[in-house]
Amino acid sequence: MIIFKTIKDIKEYLAFQRNNAVKIGFIPTMGALHQGHISLVDEARKVNAFTVCSIFVNPAQFNDSSDFDKYPSTVNEDILLLEKAQCDVLFLPSVSEIYPEGSAHTKDYHFGTLETVFEGAMRPGHFNGVGKVVAILLQIIQPNLLFMGSKDFQQCLVVQDLCKQMGINNSTKFVACATQREPDGLAMSSRNRRLNESQRAIAGIIYQCLVSIQGKALIGASFAIVKKECIDLLTAKNIHPEYISIANADTLEELSEYDLRIKMVVLIAARLGDIRLIDNLVINP
Ligand code: PAF
Repeated sequence: MIIFKTIKDIKEYLAFQRNNAVKIGFIPTMGALHQGHISLVDEARKVNAFTVCSIFVNPAQFNDSSDFDKYPSTVNEDILLLEKAQCDVLFLPSVSEIYPEGSAHTKDYHFGTLETVFEGAMRPGHFNGVGKVVAILLQIIQPNLLFMGSKDFQQCLVVQDLCKQMGINNSTKFVACATQREPDGLAMSSRNRRLNESQRAIAGIIYQCLVSIQGKALIGASFAIVKKECIDLLTAKNIHPEYISIANADTLEELSEYDLRIKMVVLIAARLGDIRLIDNLVINP
């Protein structure tokens, strides 16, 4: 794997690869890699893409600076994992390389309702920050395929919208990949490594709630009742839900009741101590 730290060097190298008619598959990350990220590299390799991964902890997307300070950094382990997964290129820029004049001086992006609900409501400015960095990275890498994990369901919709706003949705195909889960169902996430032993032992209950909400949609249950059962189950274990919601899976418009005529998604955000976890499941009618 070749590691580039500057925009100039990676652009030159990828221009050369593009001339060899390779298809570039891009996986943007903030590091602290786990099997969920590696599965994205595997997906890119399965379709014979020349695989480029980036590691950049983007200050612009943290509305809470203490969350940024606590974000785990494991670059040496990440490099070993990517090499083992046969990733071709790693882009590892500094903050000044991406934001030479500060992130406030880069273009803002807005996503309508998509940026004001769920994660957008809990983390004001977060999706503008994601938009800023992903736009810069896409301009540098110019991938044919962009691989992202469905665990961040709202982020996947935001980035697809970003590609449309940038006018690259025909040249860059967005590939949403399945959430990777631990044996108890807990969605793989860089934040999981901050869970202590007792928090980790109960964190799988979030997934049990998603499965229950998904399953009960299909037997005509009331969402309000299922939601109450899940809130009780989580709070009894000291897991504090921030939202447990169902929404239209294309627009994220929140629904008060199941509507089997449309594709829905159930979304949960919950706190265990000061660790915030999110997860979702699509409900197919
Ligand atoms: O999902 C992430 O790791 C980040 O939000 C992303 C897409 C790499 C942008 O910083």
